[in-house]
Order: sequence, then C-alpha cells, then structure tokens
Amino acid sequence: MKLPFLRALPIGLAAAFCSVAAFAQQPIVIKFSHVVAVDTPKGKAADYFKKLAEERTKGKVKIEVYPNSQLYKDKEELEALQLGAVQMLAPSLAKFGPLGAREFEVFDLPFIFDDYSELHRVTQGPIGASLLKKLDSKGIIGLAFWDNGFKEMSANKPLRMPDDFRGQKLRIQSSKVLDVQMRALGATPQVMAFSEVYQALQTGVVDGTENPVSNFYTQKMYEVQKYLTISDHGYLGYAVIVNKKFWDGLPSELRTALEGAMKDATKFANDIAKKENDDALEAVKKSGKTQVIALTPAERTAWKKALLKVHQESESRIGKDLIQSIYKETGFDPSKF
Ligand code: LMR
Repeated sequence: MKLPFLRALPIGLAAAFCSVAAFAQQPIVIKFSHVVAVDTPKGKAADYFKKLAEERTKGKVKIEVYPNSQLYKDKEELEALQLGAVQMLAPSLAKFGPLGAREFEVFDLPFIFDDYSELHRVTQGPIGASLLKKLDSKGIIGLAFWDNGFKEMSANKPLRMPDDFRGQKLRIQSSKVLDVQMRALGATPQVMAFSEVYQALQTGVVDGTENPVSNFYTQKMYEVQKYLTISDHGYLGYAVIVNKKFWDGLPSELRTALEGAMKDATKFANDIAKKENDDALEAVKKSGKTQVIALTPAERTAWKKALLKVHQESESRIGKDLIQSIYKETGFDPSKF
C-alpha cells in the first residue's frame, strides 16, 4: 500500500499510523484444537474447514489447527475453550459430560444405531439441532456434528462372547454410559485421555480399548493389541463447538462465511468417514500385527443381549424421553434385541 502523505507526518505519528494500519489488517485467529491424527476423518475435515474458511474470508480469518493433542488433552481442551484460550474444538460426543451436557452420552448407547443413515436422521435432524442448542447455556455454540464411525473392541485376547470380557481392564472415554457398558460385559472400565492410550496398552496399564478403526490404526494401536473384534457395537462421532462470546463477537459477514465453510466441511467429513475407516481396517489387516475377528450372527446376538440393559440403566442420566425420541426416529425396537 502506497501512503505518500505519511512522508509529510512527523516520524512518531507516521509510525503510529503504520502500526494501527497493520493491526487493522491482522487476521482474526481461530485456534482449532483436536486430539486425533491428521490422517483421520476429523483431522481431514478440520484441515478442509481451514482451507474453506481462509479462502472465503479472503484471509481475514486464519484457522490454526492443532492436531494430536499437541495443544491440549481431552479434558484440558474443554477448559481452554471455556476460558477462550482456544476458539474451536470437535470433541467426541462421549466427552460432553464434564460440560454438564450429559444428554450427548445418548450416542454411546450400545447398538442404538445400525448404520450411518439411521444416525444421520438424528444428528442432521431436529433432535441433533436441539442437542446443540443445549450448549448455549454453557457459553458454547454447537455448530455441527461430524462423523467418525462405529467402534470395534480390541484386546490381547480374542473377544468373541461377553464372557471373554471378564476381568479385562478396558480404557474408555469419560462417558458414564461407556462405564456402564463395560461393566455390563464384566470388564473394568478405566477413563483415560486419548493421548495416553497407546502407552497404557503397551505397558499393560489397560488390556484393551474400543474405537473406530481409523483411530486404532493412526494411533498405531495395532502394534500393541493382538486382536480386534469387528463388533460395531456403538458409535463415535463429534460435535464441532466454539466459544460463544468469541463467535457472537465476530463481524457478521465473517461469521456467515464461516458458517458456510462449516456446512461444506461437515458434508466433507460425513462423506469421507466410512471410507477412511474401511481403508484403515485394510491397513490393520495388512500390518499382520493384529488379528481381526468377525462375529458370527449368534455371537453378535449375545453381545446385544448383554448390552441392552445399558439403555435402561442410562435413562436417569440421559433422559428417557430423549432415548425414546431416538428410538422413534430410527425405528429401534428394544424387544427385537
Ligand atoms: C477417544 O478418545 O477415544 C476418541 O474419541 C478420540 C477422538 O477424538 O476420536
């Protein structure tokens, strides 16, 4: 920018003008922290959002993505968002309990969704919208739901029948529903930050864990787990959230552009998630380090029978009405378990 009139100003004044002009051009920075690898559905979607957001705001907004718990671990990142140390996160739905949003644990109920299309009726419909709205009172705005996928169980022994879980110490996320789930199988749950899981498996602090294969593969858990049972017993996905004060304070044209970028990044996330997990499963098989176990229909039925009680036991925590409204939306019939 050429500013010939500056030459006519006293030096101090000209310098002050320059620094104000430079300040006015500073981009607004959004720090987006997450705990998974770059090469996962969430990691790729975060990077895609960055690209769209920076393009569409013509550089007026800069998105700094911090993957792999580089900046904060699970619990700390939620605190950092509330304090305004980061502006955007996409925690797994199993991690909203500490925010006082226990309803999000409804997504942890075993076997509640058969596939992505059933799930999307909830996350992309009115139930999803009303769940996100509940975050407002916590000083947080929920922008979108992003998929990962269905969880598999891993351990150093084959987990085929519920009895096989007896005595196993299994890492879980902070959700109380997941605690009830592991106990229903006879296992001992242990809450642990995602960034600590590999080492805990390696040193035997825990015997096994659950996650979609994209996380299992990119965290190299196949190096330290002998068996992976393709159980698809529960869902793991994310809510993208922002600090409300920050978001409401953005110039409205920038906020609109960011909302558009988020809408398109959400489509991207949900389009790639299944393939990312399918590819990760092939990669795990190729590694030759973890034996992949497919359940027979009878074994799967035994898991369902052992886990249905988790739904009833979680009613007081999550709300019976919310569970029923999801059953209605997806056609889930507990009597068919
Ligand atoms: C986990 O903590 O197991 C996962 O939810 C991590 C993630 O964000 O996918």
